[in-house]
Amino acid sequence: MGTDLHELLRSLRVWAPETTELPAFAPSAAPAEPLELFTEWFAQAVAAGQTEPHTMSLATADADGMPDVRIVMLHGADADGWVFATHAGSRKGGQLAARPYAALGFYWSAQGRQIRLRGPVTSGPPEEGQADLHARSTGALAAALTGHQSEVLGSTEELARASAAAWERARREPDAPVPSWTLYRLQPEEVEFFQGDAERRHVRLVYRRTQGGWTRELLWP
Ligand SMILES: Cc1cc2nc3c(=O)[nH]c(=O)nc-3n(C[C@H](O)[C@H](O)[C@H](O)COP(=O)(O)O)c2cc1C
Repeated sequence: MGTDLHELLRSLRVWAPETTELPAFAPSAAPAEPLELFTEWFAQAVAAGQTEPHTMSLATADADGMPDVRIVMLHGADADGWVFATHAGSRKGGQLAARPYAALGFYWSAQGRQIRLRGPVTSGPPEEGQADLHARSTGALAAALTGHQSEVLGSTEELARASAAAWERARREPDAPVPSWTLYRLQPEEVEFFQGDAERRHVRLVYRRTQGGWTRELLWP
């Protein structure tokens, strides 16, 4: 018997009290800079047992303006921006070369929190991408060495062969270069923090970059 998708969807809720503790969020006490609040919320997501809080949606658009989205990992965030890494030759790499703007989205369901960022993206110098890759796991290096990201794959056997060779090389040569592996930095123009509320009085606090700093405003939920 097939699954009744709509019945299943109707049976589901967000922020079930058994799994979610919706913290209070007083926007008037929020710090002047979004990075500080992001860091605070990130640490709280980890402490709340949020699974994989360092994964995020990365939205880009192609040269025609057609949007695209996928999950990537956050490699860091500082005054220079939020950092992720990928192959410059991938679909997203091509889109970022054509239109160097993106949005990032985090959803931390354990606390009913969402964070959105948007702004221009720059790619870091090659040595930065290589250093980041070589500081990561053997699996990360093997995955990067496998290469061809977003190209059409002929068969799963082809992937198994390329991956086995990449793992072998990653173990033998932990500093193996992967020239296409690139660090990208999104420098946000706007950062929104969303705190879900059981009565649906969700708090939305948006930071907008100005000449010398940031403005803060509330948005209707
Ligand atoms: C949890 C998770 C983490 C991922 N992290 C990355 C990453 O950091 N970099 C990356 O290139 N792809 C990552 N991927 C794979 C991407 O989602 C995507 O499939 C791949 O980058 C190709 O995207 P594109 O065809 O739009 O370029 C991740 C996937 C998942 C599910």
